[in-house]
Amino acid sequence: MNKLLTRIQSGILPSQEELVYLLSQDDFSEIYALADRVRFENHGDIINVRAILEFSNYCKRRCRYCGLNAENKKVFRYRMMPHEIVQVSVRAWDAGYKTIVLQSGEDSWYTAEILGDIVKKIKAQTEMAITLSCGELKDESFAYLRECGADRYLLKHETADEDIYASLHPCGSLEERLHALKTIKTLGYETGSGFMIGLPGQTLFTIAKDILTLHSIPIDMAGIGPFISHPDTTLGSMPNGSTELTKRAVALTRLLLPKANLPATTSLGVINASEKDHIFSCGANIIMRKVTPQKYEEHYNIYPSEIKVNDILEERKILEKQIKSLGRVPV
Ligand code: 5AD
Repeated sequence: MNKLLTRIQSGILPSQEELVYLLSQDDFSEIYALADRVRFENHGDIINVRAILEFSNYCKRRCRYCGLNAENKKVFRYRMMPHEIVQVSVRAWDAGYKTIVLQSGEDSWYTAEILGDIVKKIKAQTEMAITLSCGELKDESFAYLRECGADRYLLKHETADEDIYASLHPCGSLEERLHALKTIKTLGYETGSGFMIGLPGQTLFTIAKDILTLHSIPIDMAGIGPFISHPDTTLGSMPNGSTELTKRAVALTRLLLPKANLPATTSLGVINASEKDHIFSCGANIIMRKVTPQKYEEHYNIYPSEIKVNDILEERKILEKQIKSLGRVPV
């Protein structure tokens, strides 16, 4: 194992089999320690805090794991108006956030023109970096939004196994997803992807392929989180993904992509709050905080969660305290 780790550290890409071998170790502590060191060497002790605004929960897709899928009639759907999105973003800036993620379901109400306008208005009033996370768009829309000033785009590939991808996504294919990611990368966006741990049919080989897929783009950011079963989806009776395996995948991703931004995903904290702290010792260096107004946030249930959002400024203070208690520096 040590030889393999040394090889990876010198920049040689491991094979899928080698990653499976590492993922299946009985004792992972050495790899966690190494990932932690690589994180420190590349990012120091800083934990970057990012705001996320969930501006619409309308979605035309039918992803089988997601509580917001178009077929879930139990969801109260909301759409924030552009001026409100800009207003909340400016408040996040005032609270100290330097990056905001604007996320929604795939909602065609927001044309590229409308989204572009929102981006331009936020840029005119703040110096925030803007990440868009609005699903798959046409190539020309990705290009237009980049021209409007969007800095980053987050589009998880969800799973790198074609068959699993097809069985979970009646509205799209892995090929289309990867095409979109490559377009995003080519346009000069900081590119975010990621995947879920514990999807039905997934094996360690799938996870190894997921990690290699991140490397092949190559991504600048990757959100890796456990699948959480949502009772109002067809996967409602499936077990949740493993937090241990999630941490292992994050640690190995850190070794393959030392410079990448790797968040502690919200879903990890939903299953186990202390695991979310622990993942910062396994390679993660980013955390996102919701700034979605509460009246909307309670309807943005991708998966069931008890986590409540308070006032933007209040939340920010609590988070900074938590980060400092881990011996790290919030930025
Ligand atoms: N469990 C965990 N993560 C989920 N996502 C969607 N549904 C679930 C679920 N049931 C993740 C997907 C998506 C992101 C916004 O949330 O990875 O890209």
